[in-house]
Amino acid sequence: MRCLSSLHVYKRLFVSMWLDTNCKGINYLKGNKLWGGRFVGDTDPIMEKFNASISYDQRMWDADIRGSKAYVKALEKAKLVTKEEMNAILQGMDQIKDEWSKGVFAIRPGDEDIHTANERRLKELIGEPAGKLHTGRSRNDQVVTDMRLWLRDAITTLKGNALQLISTMVDRAAVEIDVLFPGYTHMQRAQPIRWSHWILSHVVTLSRDVERLEETSKRVNVLPLGSGAIAGTPFDIDREFLRQELAFDDISINSMDATGQRDFVAEFLFWASLCLTHLSKMAEDLLLYSTKEFSFVSLSDAYSTGSSLMPQKKNADSLELIRSKAGRVFGRCAGFLMTMKGLPSTYNKDLQEDKEAMFDCYDTIQAVLQVTTGVLSTLKINQSVMEAALSPDMLATDLAYFLVRKGMPFREAHSASGKAVFLAETKNVPLNQLTVQELGTVSPLFDSDVSSVWDYRRSVEQYSAPGGTAKSSVTAQIEHLRAWLQKHSQ
Ligand code: ARG
Repeated sequence: MRCLSSLHVYKRLFVSMWLDTNCKGINYLKGNKLWGGRFVGDTDPIMEKFNASISYDQRMWDADIRGSKAYVKALEKAKLVTKEEMNAILQGMDQIKDEWSKGVFAIRPGDEDIHTANERRLKELIGEPAGKLHTGRSRNDQVVTDMRLWLRDAITTLKGNALQLISTMVDRAAVEIDVLFPGYTHMQRAQPIRWSHWILSHVVTLSRDVERLEETSKRVNVLPLGSGAIAGTPFDIDREFLRQELAFDDISINSMDATGQRDFVAEFLFWASLCLTHLSKMAEDLLLYSTKEFSFVSLSDAYSTGSSLMPQKKNADSLELIRSKAGRVFGRCAGFLMTMKGLPSTYNKDLQEDKEAMFDCYDTIQAVLQVTTGVLSTLKINQSVMEAALSPDMLATDLAYFLVRKGMPFREAHSASGKAVFLAETKNVPLNQLTVQELGTVSPLFDSDVSSVWDYRRSVEQYSAPGGTAKSSVTAQIEHLRAWLQKHSQ
C-alpha cells in the first residue's frame, strides 16, 4: 500500500512533466521560482504548501529589505551593478517597504518565503535590474542575516520589558520595606523575613536573566551576509562595509558556520525557557499567597478572572498562565535542539524550523513580561494578615542564637532550642509562653532577657550582613539594584 501511494505521487509528477515537455514545449524557468532553471515539472501543491515559510517568515519583511538595501550598495561598490541599477533597486525596496508597512503587500501563490516574495515584487516594480540583486548572495546567508537582524531588535524590546518589570519590583520593595511575613523552606514556616526581601530575591534572579540576554545579544549581532550558499563570495563584496551598513558588531569568520549554524537561536530559546522558569516560580508563590488560606496578597481585577459557575470565585489566571508558559517555551527549545541534532554540515531545510520556535518564544515571553509587570504593579498586600501569620516557633533559630551568644556551641544550642520547642508542644503553649523557669530546665543559660527573642522585628534586624533581611541590608540591595538598572538602561 505504501508503495502504491508513493507510486501515485510519482505518476502525477511524471504526467505533469510529460505534459510540460511534450504539450507546452520545454519550459526552463518554471513559474516565477528563483531556482526554477533546472526544473521541468510543477511542484505538487501539497509539497508547495509544505515547503513554504511565507506564512510566518513575512514577519521579517523589514529585516529582509534592510539586508537587501545594504547588499545592493555593496554590489555597486564591487561594480556588479551600476549606480542607476542600485538606485532603482533601492527605490523599489523602499516602495516594497511602504507596501508592507501599510499592510497592502500582496503575497502571491508561489511566494515561497519572504526573500522570494520581496524579490518577485522588486522585479514587478523595476524589471530587469532586480535580477542582479541576488548576485553572489544565497538565501542561505540571506535568511540567517534576516533572523539575526530581527532577533537583535527583538532582544532590545525584551530587555526593555524586563527592565521595566525589575524597576516596578524595586520600587515596590522600597515602598513596602517595613512589611514582615513568614519565609518558607520546604513550604514550611522557616524564619520571619521582610516582604521586600522576597520581592528582591526574584529581582536579583531577573537581573541575571537580563545579563544573560545581553551576552546572547553579542553572539546574535554578527553579520553572516557575504557567506553565499556555503563557500563564501567570489566577488569583491566588502563585508566590513556591510557590517557597518547593518550595524553589526562583527562579521562571521567562516561561511559554513555562518550559514549552517543556529546556535544563536537555540541560545535565545534556552534564555526564554530559563527566564520563564524563574517567573513561574514567582507566580507560584503569589498564587499561594493569594489563596483565601494565606490571604497575603490580592490581585487586581485587571489580572483576575471569574468562574462561569461559582459566583464567589476570583481566579488568578494571569499567574497561572505565567506559570504555564515555561512548559510551552521549553518545549520549543527542546524541539528545536532535536531538529538540529545530527544535521549534516551547513544549510539543510530542517533549519527552516528555527523561525516558528523563535517567534513563538518571543511572543510568549514578551506577553509574560508585560503581564507580570501589570500584576506586580497593581497587587495589593494585606500587611496585618502577613504579620499575623508569623508565629513564635519561627524564632526557634533565634532562641538557639541567644544561647550561642552566651557561649554555647551551636550544635548544643540547636538541640537545647529543639527541646524547648518540644516542651512547648507538650504543654500545648506557644514557644514564647514558656516561663524562664521552664526554659531553665533545658539550659541554665536562659534568663529573663530571653524575652528579647520574642520580637519579630528585632529578629529580622539581626540579619544585617550583606544579603540578609535586615532593613539596612534590604536598603543596600535596593540601592545596588537601582545602580544596576541605571547601568543596564543605557
Ligand atoms: N525559507 C528558507 C528558510 O527559512 C530560506 C532558505 C532557503 N534556502 C535554500 N537553500 N532552500 O530556511
